[in-house]
Amino acid sequence: MTGGRKTSDGLRVLVTESDLRKTVSRLAEALNRDYAGKQPVLVGVLKGGFVFLADLVRQLSFPAEIDFIQVASYAAGTESTGSLRLLSGLHTDIRGRDVLVVEDIVDSGLTLSYLLRYLRRRRPASLRVCALLTKETGVPLPLTIDYLGLTIPDVFAVGYGLDHAEHYRQLPDLRVLEV
Ligand code: IMP
Ligand code: MG
Repeated sequence: MTGGRKTSDGLRVLVTESDLRKTVSRLAEALNRDYAGKQPVLVGVLKGGFVFLADLVRQLSFPAEIDFIQVASYAAGTESTGSLRLLSGLHTDIRGRDVLVVEDIVDSGLTLSYLLRYLRRRRPASLRVCALLTKETGVPLPLTIDYLGLTIPDVFAVGYGLDHAEHYRQLPDLRVLEV
């Protein structure tokens, strides 16, 4: 992981665009190996996962179907509220399908376990997780991230789809929000 440089908005760069590109390529290579000859349903987790998913799918060599799911897990602050609510469910019938969840970041793992429960009830043939980021201090739950990009320190990251109170999603790299 590189970084340290401060941008004009005063935020420190945590992961550069170039390192994000390399990470996404590495994940796509692994998926291309494992899903060759298959047609999985990729479930993007809104909103934070939209940039990662968009970059990832353009490097996939198998025909993937895309759907989205949205849960509310965090309030406007940087701490988990602990309560989760489904804002928008799937529109695809995933029974008997290979399903891959595409998440921006897994922190406590609460969101992911909630999502996996929701998806498992719909009886997919297989269910795996691809997450761009996790935190050093996170994921105490018994969860497997099948495809993991990078582990970041316990900071609040913004950019590349990740927000703080709906700001910063459009930044091309990941930065640290000092709170
Ligand atoms: P978890 O339920 O604690 O694993 O949190 C997962 C969700 O919280 C992610 O999908 C993000 O939307 C959000 N989140 C967790 N950490 C960060 C962060 O550092 N920056 C922005 N969003 C975060
Ligand atoms: Mg998210």
